[in-house]
Amino acid sequence: MNKATRKAVIAGNWKMNMTPSKAKEAIEKTAALVSGKNGCDIVLCVPFVDIDAAVTAAKGTNIKIGAQNVHFEKSGAFTGEISADMLLETGVEYVIIGHSERRQYFGETDTTVNQRTKAALAAGLTVILCVGEVLEERQSNITDEILSMQTKLALAGVSAEEMQKVIIAYEPVWAIGTGLTATPQQADEACGLIRSVLAGMYDEKVAEATTIQYGGSMNDGNAAELLAKYHVDGGLIGGASLVPEKFDAIVTAAQ
Ligand code: 13P
Repeated sequence: MNKATRKAVIAGNWKMNMTPSKAKEAIEKTAALVSGKNGCDIVLCVPFVDIDAAVTAAKGTNIKIGAQNVHFEKSGAFTGEISADMLLETGVEYVIIGHSERRQYFGETDTTVNQRTKAALAAGLTVILCVGEVLEERQSNITDEILSMQTKLALAGVSAEEMQKVIIAYEPVWAIGTGLTATPQQADEACGLIRSVLAGMYDEKVAEATTIQYGGSMNDGNAAELLAKYHVDGGLIGGASLVPEKFDAIVTAAQ
């Protein structure tokens, strides 16, 4: 298993954008553009209330639908939360866990990221697990330690078999929504570091088989050179995923 055989995954993270009617429109438009481009898996992670419209619009297309978070309990008194079973029944196949915006603004910790990951995998969802350093950590030369720690803590108790349903997204926090992109070399080094952590936790086979995406201001202009790197197997795209033509250009770059 190597870059040529690993599954490339281009995923959009819509964040808190698009009402259900806008979601329908955007997915229909995107689906027409990416039709037949089967060289990568294509996922759009939408707000909870858009899921129904998104799943309906994506039916029969090569776009799969994901959510942006999931709670770790099966049910109960957790006001405002959504369980893995609820997501599954609405037709969601993927879920983003541990996004830096959840960690920064909503008190997400390595412990809850691990709990959510295990619950999502147990339910049969594919997890897009986000890790990434903040600017001060990169400037202090502790990026490797941060990525290693976040990866190990998030995946504690996750089996080698379950890793077949885990995608890791390396998202340097300083590159998210800032227009500042990691250089292809920085992205490759960080994704490679994460792969070596997986080799240590599991084995070489799991490490080489795992899809590792880059995210952070990836767009139609820089996707090709990022995706050309050995350890970069796809992208998690914020802003550019809201514009069908831009998202399609990134999908095209991944073919
Ligand atoms: P931007 O592509 O808008 O920088 O967002 C990246 C991101 O956070 C995807 O999850």
